[in-house]
Parts: sequence; C-alpha cells; structure tokens
Amino acid sequence: MAFTIAIDGPAASGKGTISREVARVFGCAHLDTGLLYRAVGRRMLDGEPPIEAARALCAADLEVEGLRTPGVGDAASKVAVIPEVRAALVDFQRAFARRDGGAVLDGRDIGTVICPEAEAKLFVIASPEVRARRRYDEYVTAGESVDFDRVLEDVRARDERDMGRADAPLRPAEDAVQIDTTTLSIDEAVATAIAAIEARGGVRAS
Ligand code: CDP
Ligand code: CDP
Repeated sequence: MAFTIAIDGPAASGKGTISREVARVFGCAHLDTGLLYRAVGRRMLDGEPPIEAARALCAADLEVEGLRTPGVGDAASKVAVIPEVRAALVDFQRAFARRDGGAVLDGRDIGTVICPEAEAKLFVIASPEVRARRRYDEYVTAGESVDFDRVLEDVRARDERDMGRADAPLRPAEDAVQIDTTTLSIDEAVATAIAAIEARGGVRAS
C-alpha cells in the first residue's frame, strides 16, 4: 500500500534525522528532496544553467559527495526560487511518494505542493539559534573552520528566502502536526513523530 509521510521544515530543524528513523520504523523508502535542489545548485556553481540542470537531473547526481557544504546549500536555495526548476523536479518526487511499501519525503513543500494528499504530514521547527548551533557543531565535527555568527546569518538568510518566495514557500500544511525540536533530544523528537504518524494510520514494520 502506498502510504506517504510528508516532513517539512527549515534548515537544521531535525527533519532529516527524524525522516531516516521514521523510514526505518515504518519500513518505507526515504527521499531527502533537499538533495535534488543541492544537485541543481552544484551544477549551477559549475556553470550550467539551472533550468537545464534540473531537467537533466538523474539519480547519479544525488550520490556524488560534496552536496552538504554551506556553499551548495546556499546555491540550492537560490535555484529553488525558479519555478521552472521546481516544476522539473515534481514528477520524480510524486512517483517516489506513491511507490508500493510507502515513502517518507522531507523538504519544504512536500505537504503543501508535492503531496497534498499525504496520509501523514509533519512540520518540524526549532529556534534559529539552536538550528545554527547544530549546523555549527556538524561543521566543526567535519573539521571545517566556521564562524558561529556567520552560520546563524546563513540560517536566517535561507529561512527568509525559503519562506518569502512566491512559488512553493516554506509553510505548514493546514493538516500538518507541528513538532518544535528546540528543547527536544533526537530520541524525543523521533518518538513524537512516530506517535503522530501512528495517529494518522501509519503501521510500524514488524
Ligand atoms: O534535515 P535538517 O536540516 O532539518 O536537520 P538534521 O540534519 O536532521 O539535523 C541537524 C543536526 O541537528 C544533526 O546533526 C542532528 O543530529 C541534530 N539534531 C539534534 O541535535 N536534536 C534534534 N532533536 C534533532 C537533530
Ligand atoms: O538540510 P537543509 O534543511 O539545510 O537543506 P536542504 O533540505 O538540503 O535544502 C536545501 C535548499 O533546497 C533549501 O534551503 C530550499 O531552498 C531548497 N528546497 C526546496 O526549495 N524544496 C524542497 N522540497 C527541499 C529543498
């Protein structure tokens, strides 16, 4: 049965971590849709026109290393304001969402635009300071030298771009369950998400 779980939220709210665990618990496939925009953003940085890059995107583009860098995240949110780029990525995401065995997709517009009919929708948030701290810690762990204030500035700029764009802005679907992870541990956030999905009819894999 195709059971779709849509998980949206701003950068570093914890949606990716929740999505991976939810996919494991409910035994379904997971698509991090941010990677699609990051792959297009990366190709734009390499000099390719973003609309052509989005139309030519293939699975191999999502497996290459280096999509998680701050520069590529910034480029992703810039190409994500282009309606033709978004349009080129819709069919792939919808086909993924309706696959047999169910699917969890995380991003910005999954519950509102890509899968408005999703059986379960979550909207994950956290304060900008906490989100910037999480990203900062990730960069430090990866051995990158970054300035915290700069990371916080980037988080705020990306929020503004994602919430302010005309096409598919970041906002909760009316029927989404909101989870604020500001003061939650990963385990608490995951448990809250699982309970919300079960309340919408999700059945754990045995
Ligand atoms: O996918 P998204 O950008 O929303 O965030 P993430 O990659 O899931 O989480 C960003 C970082 O915050 C990761 O290093 C998580 O381990 C951490 N995190 C946390 O500390 N507490 C939470 N409740 C959720 C995530
Ligand atoms: O992990 P993080 O939340 O920092 O970013 P991401 O999910 O990898 O997404 C990177 C950028 O792609 C976002 O800032 C959005 O501008 C864009 N994006 C989007 O517009 N729609 C989606 N469904 C997913 C990502």
